Amino acid sequence: MKVLIVYYSTYGNTYKMALEVAEGVRMVPGAIPVIRRVPELIPEEIIESREDMKKGRDIQKEVPLVTPEDFREAGAIAFGTPTRFGVVSAQLKNQIDRLTHLWMEGALEGKPAGIFVSTATPHGGQEMTIFSLLPALLHLGMIFVGVPYSVKELFYTRGGGSPYGPGHVAGTDNLREIDPEERAILRAFGKRLAEIGLKLQK
Ligand SMILES: Cc1cc2nc3c(=O)[nH]c(=O)nc-3n(C[C@H](O)[C@H](O)[C@H](O)COP(=O)(O)O)c2cc1C
Repeated sequence: MKVLIVYYSTYGNTYKMALEVAEGVRMVPGAIPVIRRVPELIPEEIIESREDMKKGRDIQKEVPLVTPEDFREAGAIAFGTPTRFGVVSAQLKNQIDRLTHLWMEGALEGKPAGIFVSTATPHGGQEMTIFSLLPALLHLGMIFVGVPYSVKELFYTRGGGSPYGPGHVAGTDNLREIDPEERAILRAFGKRLAEIGLKLQK
């Protein structure tokens, strides 16, 4: 069973989170992670004028763009986004808005799905961002998956991560690396999504 990990990332933090979710998926026999990015909406000339954006773009340039087939084939889906003013990024939302034909077909109904998020600051809107995307997943008929407190790192994370989904605090310079608790929560989430996907497989 394929677990689609579809994300948007400007500076690379959400991309690095996607790699950790994939590690969690790999822990489950029979589950294969498929990492895909969504189209960029920031004009090329702006990216070219910023060293941090160029670096973020370049580290993920080998990641293929997601296709409708990726969504169709997935037994479970993880959505990754940086926070933008407390809500989901326009880039990831734009991709979800392009799923109208799959919505009409009911192609995503019954698939487990969850959301992981990167913010600059601890209180910059991780939970808000997850909840801002949740209605779209429910409209598409997906079954929302969070992170239960049996994942003990939720009790003492000083970075990101909550019962609503994994999180990462990237810092105002976007350079803070994923810490051990954030990593554990990301992997537990990938593992859980894969296990639930396998249980629900038709
Ligand atoms: C337009 C814009 C709005 C942002 N809004 C927030 C915000 O509301 N809260 C926050 O903590 N960080 C905010 N940030 C910072 C991003 O969340 C941060 O750069 C991101 O998590 C880094 O992820 P990435 O490396 O995957 O792009 C914002 C950044 C931009 C460019």
